[in-house]
Amino acid sequence: MKFSKRVQSLPPYLFVQISKKIAARKARGEEVISFGIGDPDLSTPPHIIAELVRAAHDPANHRYPESEGLPEYRKAVADWYKKRFDIKLDSEKEVVSLIGAKEGIAHIALCLIDPGDVALVPDPGYPVYSIGTMLAGGETYYLPMNEKNKFLPELDSIPASILQRSKVLWLNYPNNPTGATAELDYFNYAVDFAKKHDLIICHDGPYTEVAFDGYKPVSFMQAKGAMDVAIEFHSLSKSYNMTGWRIGMAVGNPDVIDALRRIKSNMDSGIPQAIQHMAIKALNGPQDSVAEHNRIYQARRDKVVKTLREMGIQTNIPKASLYIWAHCPQGYKSAEFAEDILEQVGVVVTPGNGYGPTGEGFFRISLTINDQMLDKGLAKFAQWKSKKV
Ligand SMILES: Cc1ncc(COP(=O)(O)O)c(C=O)c1O
Repeated sequence: MKFSKRVQSLPPYLFVQISKKIAARKARGEEVISFGIGDPDLSTPPHIIAELVRAAHDPANHRYPESEGLPEYRKAVADWYKKRFDIKLDSEKEVVSLIGAKEGIAHIALCLIDPGDVALVPDPGYPVYSIGTMLAGGETYYLPMNEKNKFLPELDSIPASILQRSKVLWLNYPNNPTGATAELDYFNYAVDFAKKHDLIICHDGPYTEVAFDGYKPVSFMQAKGAMDVAIEFHSLSKSYNMTGWRIGMAVGNPDVIDALRRIKSNMDSGIPQAIQHMAIKALNGPQDSVAEHNRIYQARRDKVVKTLREMGIQTNIPKASLYIWAHCPQGYKSAEFAEDILEQVGVVVTPGNGYGPTGEGFFRISLTINDQMLDKGLAKFAQWKSKKV
C-alpha cells in the first residue's frame, strides 16, 4: 500500500499517545486518574436533552441536513452574538455551522493556504492550527507565547521574509493550553497588523463562556475592523457541555465564511438537525447552567492551584478556560515529567511540548474531572517525589 506524503508526515494526535499509556496501566490493573483531555465531565443540561428527544421524533429532521446549517440555527447564533457581545451578524452571510469548531479549524486551511504559504500559529497552541496547515501543504511559523509577553504573541517581531509568505494569523483566547486571556486592545492591534500585512485572522474562541471571578471574556469580533479581516470559531462544546454532540460555528467576514461554506459543502452534509435544535435551545434558552458550571470549575481551579503551589510548582491562576498551565518541577522536561508522574502515582497530565516548542518545560492540567476524582488525583499528585533533587 502506498499512502500520501501528507498522511505519512502526520504526527499521532496528542491524546492518542497518552491514551495508550493509560490503557497499558489499566491493563495491569492499576488505577489511573486523568487530568489530561479537556472534555467536560458535567452533563448536557436537561432542557437541551429534552429538545433533542422532541426533535428526534420529527420526521423533518430525519433527512440530510444542509452543510451550512439550518437558517434557524444560524439565526440563533447571530442572536446569541448580539446578546452576548453586542455584535450584529447577518445570519445568511456571516455565520456557518460546524461539526464542532475542530472541523472548521482543520478545513479553513483548505480555503486560505496553498503549498508554500505560511500560517502564523501561537506556540503553545491547539495542535489543529498547524496540522490543518500541513494538510493543505502549508508551513507553520510559531509565535512564542510566554510569561514575558503575557502570552500575547509579539507580531512586530515576525521576520519580513515570513510575513511576505503568510496568509493567516491564528489566535485563541481564552487560551488552550495556557489559560491566558486577551482584551480588545490586543485584538485591535492584531486587526491593524493584519490589514497592514494582508493577513486573514482566524480567532478560536470556544472558551469565552468558561470564566471565573466574574470575568467576561470578549469576542475577537468586537475589535475595531475585525469584520474586514477576521472570522471567529466558536462552539457549544465547552459552554454547554456538548462536546459529544459535535456542533459549533464560524462567524465573521462574509468572504471567508463563504469560502469555508463552499469547501464544507463538498465534504460534509452538515450536523444532524435534531442536534441543531438542541443548540438553538441552548443558545436561546436559560443560561443558568453556564454560571453554575463556572462555579464548579472555579472551585476546582482553586484546589489545583493550591496543591501545585504547596508542592513548589509555579503556575498562574487562570481567569478563564478549563486549564492550568504549570512549570514542570525543576530539572524536568515535559514528557519526562508526564511519564514520571504517571509511573509514580498514576496521574495523567498533558505534556506541554505537545502544544509546540515553547510548551517544553510545562504541563497542562484540565479541570474536567469530577470533584471526587479531582480530590483523589490531587492527593496522589502531592505524593509525587522529584528524582532530581
Ligand atoms: C482551543 C480549542 N479550539 C477548538 C477545540 C475544539 O472544540 P470542538 O469540540 O468545538 O470541536 C478545542 C477543544 O478542546 C480547543 O481546545
